[in-house]
Amino acid sequence: MDINKTLSELTLTEKAALVSGKNNWYTAKIDRLGIHPLMMTDGPSGLRKVEPGKGISDINDSVPAVCFPAASLTANSFNRDLFFQLGALIGEEARSERVSLVLGPGVNMKRTPAGGRNFEYLSEDPLLTGVLGAEYVKGVQSQNVGVAVKHFAANNRENQRFTVSSDVSERTLRELYLRAFEIIVKTANPDTLMISYNKINGTLNTQNYHLITDVLRDEWGYQGATMSDWGGVADHTAAIRAGLDLEMPGKGQPSTDEIVLAVKTGKLDEGALDNAIRRLLTIIDRRQPDANPEPYDQSKHHEAARKMADESIVLLRNTHNELPLDLAKGTTAIIGQLADKPRFQGGGSSHVNPVHLVTPLDAANQLSDHVIYQPGYDLDQLDTEPTLEAAALEAAKQADHVVVFLGYPESWESEGFDKTSLQLPDNQSELLSDLTDVNDHITVVLETGAPVEMPWVHDVNAIVETYLAGEAVGEATWDILTGAVNPSGHLAETFPVLLSDTPMSMTFDQDPNHEIYSEGIFMGYRFYNSHEMRVLYPFGYGLSYTAFEYTHLQTEIDDEKVQVTFNVTNTGERTGQAVPQLYVANHATHRPVPATELRNFAKVALKAGETKTVTFTLTRRDFSWYRTGKHMWEADSGDYELMIGASSRDTRLQQRITLTFENEPHEISENTYLNEIISDPTLMALFMKDVVTPFSDHGSTTEQQLFTVDQNGKVAILQNPLFTNMPLRALVAQGLPNQLIQTFIRHANNRE
Ligand code: GLC
Repeated sequence: MDINKTLSELTLTEKAALVSGKNNWYTAKIDRLGIHPLMMTDGPSGLRKVEPGKGISDINDSVPAVCFPAASLTANSFNRDLFFQLGALIGEEARSERVSLVLGPGVNMKRTPAGGRNFEYLSEDPLLTGVLGAEYVKGVQSQNVGVAVKHFAANNRENQRFTVSSDVSERTLRELYLRAFEIIVKTANPDTLMISYNKINGTLNTQNYHLITDVLRDEWGYQGATMSDWGGVADHTAAIRAGLDLEMPGKGQPSTDEIVLAVKTGKLDEGALDNAIRRLLTIIDRRQPDANPEPYDQSKHHEAARKMADESIVLLRNTHNELPLDLAKGTTAIIGQLADKPRFQGGGSSHVNPVHLVTPLDAANQLSDHVIYQPGYDLDQLDTEPTLEAAALEAAKQADHVVVFLGYPESWESEGFDKTSLQLPDNQSELLSDLTDVNDHITVVLETGAPVEMPWVHDVNAIVETYLAGEAVGEATWDILTGAVNPSGHLAETFPVLLSDTPMSMTFDQDPNHEIYSEGIFMGYRFYNSHEMRVLYPFGYGLSYTAFEYTHLQTEIDDEKVQVTFNVTNTGERTGQAVPQLYVANHATHRPVPATELRNFAKVALKAGETKTVTFTLTRRDFSWYRTGKHMWEADSGDYELMIGASSRDTRLQQRITLTFENEPHEISENTYLNEIISDPTLMALFMKDVVTPFSDHGSTTEQQLFTVDQNGKVAILQNPLFTNMPLRALVAQGLPNQLIQTFIRHANNRE
């Protein structure tokens, strides 16, 4: 398509039709000019194609598709290739169903484990989210299908999501809540971004020119299109002015009329409308569906879903080598209705109609006839059902090993509302407590979309977190429990001991209009580790059935980068996968900074006894913080600690390095503190020349003595923190002539 020629031939009415969705899933069509509609559907972990007019219209009634593990599980893989493959397989399914845009990935930060939609998001860390999210995008787009990276931005709560303002500092926004989107935009070139419902600091995101145009387009160089979340546009004219390209879904003729009138009355510049049309036509032209697409291999995709879950499930506890289990030996009691009716996906728009669900009970029965099953509780009840509990306890008494499946009912965890507790249902907690009285070999399998409180953590031998593992939940669970697969998942979010331990526990969801990010950059492990606070399980943590040793840390530093290499050895008896993580501690910046921040990671498969060398390369940005006053990233010269760990709290190798960075000089004023001048050699030399020397050379008043230079070249006043903790303007009160200060400020602001 010749975009500019087509644009020139469009009438105003046709343009107005194109910037509003035709309905929930299609863009408009203009037959006269051969502009075909594009179909878009959810979602991040599988296709939710709701085909209007073909009897499929309910949110939970979509075309059967493979239900892959939810992002909250796959993020624990720390595996870039897995995310590329996940995207590619979903893209292949979309292509075969003539879907041109997949509405995913969801890459919002998991700010608090009480977030209702956390199952659909990856992590509390923006680097892990951005790097894995970018691979997902590359995977989908490798199939000639586009994406809608969502929800841009700071959309971290579900309650009042259409109107609540995320009140967050610029630095926190840049370092945490925009960062994953920035990584994806700059490294994966996504077709579209979905602009979120909420406000940021009072401005509705769909009308947020600074967010969509200043930052996304002008600063990050984003070339794709933007669409609103469903029903997220409050003022379509204002939205187009801000840089929004597509209102989803459109409001039909009223949407078209509104835009036509806005242009005709001068409320909307037609040039802004044309920019939106140009970006939309580019995507529409690029992603036209095949007329007769190839079907995809559902069993191959199912197997891939199983392997992704295998790679991501996290072994949290394994005392007395409870795991792996040998189902051929003795009897294993499977307790818990979630074994038979598993939670394997989240509720809401990411819901998939699975092709082939294999439950943990189905899979166990396939593997062994030495298993007995009891539901133990009713997911639809809160209270204990005595007969169910008694039968479960009886089964546990007879069994050599007990595997109990626990988690939230579907109704407790979904898009659209947040949680108020991390506690399991009472009937499950009571059942577990009674089970621990009758059997010492208990494994807990958690099917949850987010962390749970575990007051019983020391009462059981083993704990496995399967999160929401997709349609192959059954096979994958037993792959891990029997040791057919060695677990290699590492937590992409912190498991706090209590919800009340989280930094936002007193404020989250407390104000219907404002969500105040008072914790700032100290969110997730950035909070817990900086406060050296107890947690249940730290970010980056995960156990294996083998062991790994880290050795030979070496660093090479040049002007452009810091290269870090080290060895990982599998010192155990069986093949496994290590997840080395590189954290950086910033000792150079005289501003609040987290104790450590994740700066790279890898997934390393190793046979027993095998050693591999891992190399990470760090650049200036990995040592930078966002300086709000200057609206730019700044890296400070000084010391940094590099830490290689098996989790954010399990450092195996570390090295302190000293780095020097050049920064844009920033404005010196009368409010600049002497401390800042002392710490900058160039400024200090200028201060000596312009201020100290001229003043101390004349006379010997008390004030002038303050500025004498001793035989070691030390200036009296600069040795005393009482004075160095003063701004320049306060020195006049110490007798310093103001014109000397003004001369210094003028020279300082014109320095090279
Ligand atoms: C929703 C979700 C969004 C989804 C869209 C279409 O409200 O916030 O993630 O893609 O509607 O279903």
